[in-house]
Amino acid sequence: MDRPSWAPLFSHVLITLCFGIAQPQQFCSNKGIFSVSSAYSNNLNLLLSSLPSRMAENGIFYKATVGQGPDKVYALALCRGDLPSEKCYSCVNATSQSIKQQCPNQKEAIMWTDSSCLLRYANRDIFTKMEEIPPFCVSNPNNFSGDFAKFNETLHGLMEKLITQASSGLKFATGYVSFTKPIYGLVQCIPDISESDCRSCLQKGMGEMESCSGGHEGGRILSPSCIVWFDLFRFYEPAGTLDAPLQFPPGPAPANLAQPPSPPSPANVSPPNQTRNKKVIIIAVASLVTLITIICALILWRRMKQKVESKSRQF
Ligand SMILES: *[C@@H]1O[C@H](CO)[C@@H](O)[C@H](O)[C@H]1NC(C)=O
Ligand SMILES: *[C@@H]1O[C@H](CO)[C@@H](O)[C@H](O)[C@H]1NC(C)=O
Ligand SMILES: *[C@@H]1O[C@H](CO)[C@@H](O)[C@H](O)[C@H]1NC(C)=O
Repeated sequence: MDRPSWAPLFSHVLITLCFGIAQPQQFCSNKGIFSVSSAYSNNLNLLLSSLPSRMAENGIFYKATVGQGPDKVYALALCRGDLPSEKCYSCVNATSQSIKQQCPNQKEAIMWTDSSCLLRYANRDIFTKMEEIPPFCVSNPNNFSGDFAKFNETLHGLMEKLITQASSGLKFATGYVSFTKPIYGLVQCIPDISESDCRSCLQKGMGEMESCSGGHEGGRILSPSCIVWFDLFRFYEPAGTLDAPLQFPPGPAPANLAQPPSPPSPANVSPPNQTRNKKVIIIAVASLVTLITIICALILWRRMKQKVESKSRQF
């Protein structure tokens, strides 16, 4: 049983808070808009309102159509493979609401929420095909410090194994590899694409990672057909049935996939002085709030600068 140590956990919390403000992420197509009282609009509303509960009955992936001919709506939803079903439901539920607000009257749109779920709809068949549009990049703002060449090599070794495991199997894999800190990885494809499309999408994702988060401690590539994510903290749910220890096909033993260092035993921590502790907690909370505010402001400012750049990214 491994747990993140304090430093990565702290940056995890910061990143979650900051990106929590800045998300969701969406592409709204430029392929036309529909009028509010059209059949397409009614079909879309019907589909979006039924998706969350249908999703809950079907697991992490669901796709459906409503309507006929030019008014036919195709929609799909996918949760990250490690997400417990109640979080999956609330993610898809929230996304089904916000996609209408973020992409009003758009015939086609894609939205991710918190890098946890994807919702996509269009007036054309979007099933079983790999879609190639510029992906979203979410970079961990922390620069990697240490032997980068070695880090990069270790990371690519891990991700290549996960890509093989995911594309030939459940279209989802998580795992970690020991480094100075453990490196955690997650890859996932839309379950209905082929093995070769899945592999190709994930490998392209790793290629794009270079420009997304080269030199950083983590990064995520969110594309319509796959997700690639690595970080130095355990960002995926440890308890999911799909989160078994990495198992690779017969071949060289996974010697590099050792258990990451375990955290210090809680038994070693002596009980703190209560009164002094209260003061320390108040000071710590105040400092933390200040720090989070400053860092969030910096990150949001950077993202706003990047938004100008990403405005040209439409499909
Ligand atoms: C689904 O989303 C709607 C609108 O945001 C909300 O009112 C409702 O409570 C959500 N349902 C659940 C079960 O979370
Ligand atoms: C990472 O490095 C870049 C370039 O050296 C610098 O501009 C940026 O502020 C650094 N980020 C952090 C979080 O230290
Ligand atoms: C990281 O490793 C990959 C795969 O070996 C390689 O293609 C890439 O150029 C490396 N990146 C850097 C910055 O060294």
